[in-house]
Amino acid sequence: MPSVELSKLGKSYGRGQKAVDGVSLSIRDGEFLVLVGPSGCGKSTVLRMVAGLEEISEGTIQIGDRVVNEVAPKDRDVAMVFQNYALYPHMSVFDNMAFGLRRRKASEAEVQQKVNETAEVLGLTTYLQRRPRELSGGERQRVALGRAMVRKPQVFLFDEPLSNLDAKLRVQMRAEIKRLHQRVGATMIYVTHDQVEAMTLGDRIAVMRKGILQQCADPFTLYTAPANQFVAGFIGSPPINFFTANVSADGGSIESGGVTIALGEAQRAAVAPLKGKPVNVGIRPEDLHLEGVIGAAIPATCEVREPLGNETLVHWKSPVGEIVSRVPGQSSPAVGAQATLQAPLEKLHLFDPTSELSLTAAPVTV
Ligand SMILES: Nc1ncnc2c1ncn2[C@@H]1O[C@H](COP(=O)(O)OP(=O)(O)OP(=O)(O)O)[C@@H](O)[C@H]1O
Ligand SMILES: [Mg+2]
Repeated sequence: MPSVELSKLGKSYGRGQKAVDGVSLSIRDGEFLVLVGPSGCGKSTVLRMVAGLEEISEGTIQIGDRVVNEVAPKDRDVAMVFQNYALYPHMSVFDNMAFGLRRRKASEAEVQQKVNETAEVLGLTTYLQRRPRELSGGERQRVALGRAMVRKPQVFLFDEPLSNLDAKLRVQMRAEIKRLHQRVGATMIYVTHDQVEAMTLGDRIAVMRKGILQQCADPFTLYTAPANQFVAGFIGSPPINFFTANVSADGGSIESGGVTIALGEAQRAAVAPLKGKPVNVGIRPEDLHLEGVIGAAIPATCEVREPLGNETLVHWKSPVGEIVSRVPGQSSPAVGAQATLQAPLEKLHLFDPTSELSLTAAPVTV
């Protein structure tokens, strides 16, 4: 039984484009699902509808075996952690964590037991008598998590809970949340616009754009077989390289800026509907090599090098346009050097320029 089922979920805030449009998703019991997408794509709106903080315009939300469209937020068995986690400043950590339980008229013995148990899990036992202002950002974040955890809800909802933290703490808390998920095994829905956070946390990742779900898949599938150009461009840093090419009349090759790439059987099948027409090509930076690969060969001149220590990003000028490649360590060519960038044919992502759908990834239904 899925833990949370969204069926054709929609939200209109009055006039204009729908904030959420026909989103269907089955979230499994115990799954960590990440909702990701650019600002304004409707992520928070989906989460707020699940929490019951926003009315549903279309479709249904089921939690466990009941439809909750008309169920009050407090009766949904969900707990939400917001970006701005707003702890009560005048209350101790203990009282902050106990607040929800006391409001629900839990016995003091139960409050003591649950708060102490949760504090133990989160490593907050020695902080219970402090006020929030006496804590670091990461510790405050843990208290906010604890406040949600004490109720042992069926579903946790997180809306960009780490975006107030500095980069280092964010990485630390990311691991902490993952550990927490492994430990409590509850269903979690986590909203972020950060693709690295999405990839590192999610069992599956649902990518949204303008209110519409684009693809929902595990991180590896999303990266290696993006369903459309938007997903291909959104996931991956530095982003995938795109250029437009023309498919030959017989569909055996593609050509861009005078560079011809002979296609293999799989790519020929993919571009068969586009013979004599344009096709969009994507190649990830790490799939471009300087030697030893048979496939696409693109002559290029090194323009800029960005050494990162473990790898170097190289920006190239080429007949197909600007291209970024990634080379291990410091072993990059000098600025001005000429090279032939080589990519295996099976690493070419091909997209229909009209629909922007992938021609090389297996079709997905979302
Ligand atoms: N209360 C509201 N009234 C009218 N429009 C709203 C309201 N809340 C959100 N919207 C609009 O709905 C769309 C989706 O908003 P939402 O907050 O869900 O985006 P988001 O993906 O969470 O973005 P961000 O990453 O910036 O938080 C946006 O275009 C936003 O302007
Ligand atoms: Mg938001």
